[in-house]
Amino acid sequence: MVILIGPSGAGKTTFAARNFAPTEVLSSDAMRALVADDPNDQSATDAAFELLHAALGLRLARGRLTVVDATNVDAWARSALLAVARRHDRPSAAIVFDLPVGLCLGRNAERADRRVPAAAVRRQHAKMRGSLASLAKEGIGSIAVLSTPDAVDSLHVDRRRA
Ligand code: GTP
Ligand code: MG
Repeated sequence: MVILIGPSGAGKTTFAARNFAPTEVLSSDAMRALVADDPNDQSATDAAFELLHAALGLRLARGRLTVVDATNVDAWARSALLAVARRHDRPSAAIVFDLPVGLCLGRNAERADRRVPAAAVRRQHAKMRGSLASLAKEGIGSIAVLSTPDAVDSLHVDRRRA
């Protein structure tokens, strides 16, 4: 299991599309769309994550590499994902998009698809930053922290170790 961690606008979905097959990526937006026909429908969040966790478990049971594309900036959200991986005895990794808040805000403002309120981006960014110190103690197998756009572009995903 690979958990992407970062605020809205950090480029998680763009990164996932570049590095993984579409079927390997479970995104909270896609799950909201599946249950509510609208990836922005926040009222569908609980159902979307229920579906995401179920799909994650079914994939991990089969030993399929699975990437979780959600902000994952809250420890409790990561903990729920790690519990699924543990239940299936699968290794976990995290990729943290530790990019400057200004960059995330700028990308968010210029997005064509979906825009998140700037305050939400700032909040998620602060939570991501706050997570960095404790992440290693959460039981994630390996953690990559990407602090520049160059680091994001040049990350090589070694699937044997993922
Ligand atoms: P949420 O789904 O809202 O959590 O955001 P996200 O982290 O998935 O960000 P996403 O990949 O959707 O990227 C947000 C915006 O930034 C999009 O308009 C992307 O085209 C742009 N973007 C993402 N990655 C890059 C990048 O590496 N370089 C540039 N120039 N733009 C990027
Ligand atoms: Mg996304």
